[in-house]
Parts: sequence; structure tokens; C-alpha cells
Amino acid sequence: MNFKGKHFLTLLDYTKEELEYLLDLAIRMKKGEEEKELNRKSLAMLFQKSSTRTRISFEVGMTQLGGHALFLDIKNTQLGRGETIGDTAQTISRYADGIMARLYKHEDIKELAKHAKVPVINALTDKYHPCQTMADMQTVLEKKNKLEGLKVAYFGDCGFNMFNSTAIGFSKLGAEVVAVCPEKEEYKPKKENLPEVKYEIEHDPLKGAEDADVIYTDVWISMGQDEEKAKRLSELQNYQVNEEIMKKAKNDALFMHCLPAHREEEITAGIIDGPNSVVFDEAENRLHAQKAIMAELMGD
Ligand code: CP
Ligand code: NVA
Repeated sequence: MNFKGKHFLTLLDYTKEELEYLLDLAIRMKKGEEEKELNRKSLAMLFQKSSTRTRISFEVGMTQLGGHALFLDIKNTQLGRGETIGDTAQTISRYADGIMARLYKHEDIKELAKHAKVPVINALTDKYHPCQTMADMQTVLEKKNKLEGLKVAYFGDCGFNMFNSTAIGFSKLGAEVVAVCPEKEEYKPKKENLPEVKYEIEHDPLKGAEDADVIYTDVWISMGQDEEKAKRLSELQNYQVNEEIMKKAKNDALFMHCLPAHREEEITAGIIDGPNSVVFDEAENRLHAQKAIMAELMGD
């Protein structure tokens, strides 16, 4: 399998076999069964939004592979003062071996990738967060040894980045994905972001959780939605993952969250800190999943 020079913008661009290969590589690299390197290579990391896990895991990942990562806050680059995305992409491509970008608009990362001469990795846009889903699928594989046939119930805002990537990745690898969300259009999955992706929709939270193998949720107010805070808190309140919801799922169901979490909003402290929660395994696996992706896309 050859990934050299490919971009990683959405899991829609990768086949089931390619995703399985990358996950298997990440698991083997984590166990020390396989070594990869990016000696003397550099990754330019462009951030338009805040981050804890993404910045640290990419930066540490590059160091562990023998390379270097540069943190670039877009506000402090010329891109923040009107230089075009295209010129920025061409310039960075003359120095760095890869670009990681966390941007508001997915259209902007597509523009970046169009002009870049090196691989561009999506570290979250309004539409997708593919690296998070790779780490999440790795976590489920490690805990359950399979994805095929598992029921993944995604609670809350199913119209945004995290639902999209979860639906694309998990369904491609054979899981049954259920969007458990309010009836309002904005919280429902958008077909145009999920071409040929299989998922079901359930508006009743208790039914949605029934016999689930995985219960997933994300914040109700994503980055860039702060003005809608009061409205979202009220409209999503019935979709909190709590003790009643987890009781409907299988006894050994995994509770997953990409983090950061807002305790007592989308998730109760009892569940996120409880025995079914694997949220910090997901966070750790960002490092391993991304090392595999970077090694394959940017390696010689
Ligand atoms: N899950 C995730 O992407 O976390 P950060 O926003 O902290 O990077
Ligand atoms: N949906 C969240 C994910 C954060 C990792 C956001 O976009 O803010």
C-alpha cells in the first residue's frame, strides 16, 4: 500500500483496506513491533483554533519519529494578515515535509491542499476530524478486537465534525452507527457531508442507547459556536449521556468522547470517570494513530 504524498483531509478519501492498514500499523508501532522514522523531517502545524491533544500529540509524535514540528498560530502568520492560502501553502511546501492544519472552514483546508506540494493532514475543520476517529477506532479495536457488527450510538450534535468522521470511519469498517439527536435540522446528519455513508437516526435517547457497544458524545458547543451557547444547552439537554443512558447500553459498552468534555453538560462526571470510560485511551491513541499516518504519508 502506498500513501506517499497523499493528503489526509477526510476518511471519505480512504478505502476500508487502507484504513485497516493504518490502524494495524498504529497498533504495531504502539507495541514496539514495528519502527518507522521521519528523521530530519519537519511538520508545519497551522492552528486557527485552540487545542490541547492535537498540538501535543502531533508535536511529540514528530519528535518520537526523529523529526520536528513547528507550532504556527495563524494570527501571528501573514495568513492572518491577508496572505492567500495558496501562497502560504506553496511557501510552507518549500520548507516543511508536511502540513497539519486546524481550520474553521473545510473549504479552506481543501484550498491549502490544492496548492501544497507536501501532504496536508486535517486536524479538525467544521466538517471532519479524521485523526480523532483513527485514534477512536484504534481504541475500540484494542478493547473489543473488532469493529464489524458493533453498535455505535453517537449522542448530541450529529450535524458537525465529530459525528461525520465517526460515521464515515466506523461504518466503513463494518460498525452500525446510530445518530441519536434532536429533530431540529441543525443537529441531524447532513447528507452532503456523508456521501454513501450508512447510518441510522434515532430521536429517542433511551432507544438509541439500547444494546449499544459504544456510546459516543462530544461537546454541545463546538469551537466557533459560543454565541449559540444558551440555545444549544437547552435544545440538547435531553441527549446528555448519563447513568440512565449507560444502563440501556451493553454492560461492557465503552464510553467515548474526543475531549475536551464539559462535565454535567453532555456527560456526567460519574460516567466519564467511571469503569466504562476509555476517553484517555482515545487521547493517548491520537499520538499512535497520527505517527502511523505521518510515517506513511511523509516517509521516504
Ligand atoms: N480531541 C481534540 O482534538 O482535542 P484538542 O482540541 O485538545 O486538540
Ligand atoms: N466538535 C468539537 C471537537 C473538539 C475536538 C469542536 O469542533 O470544537
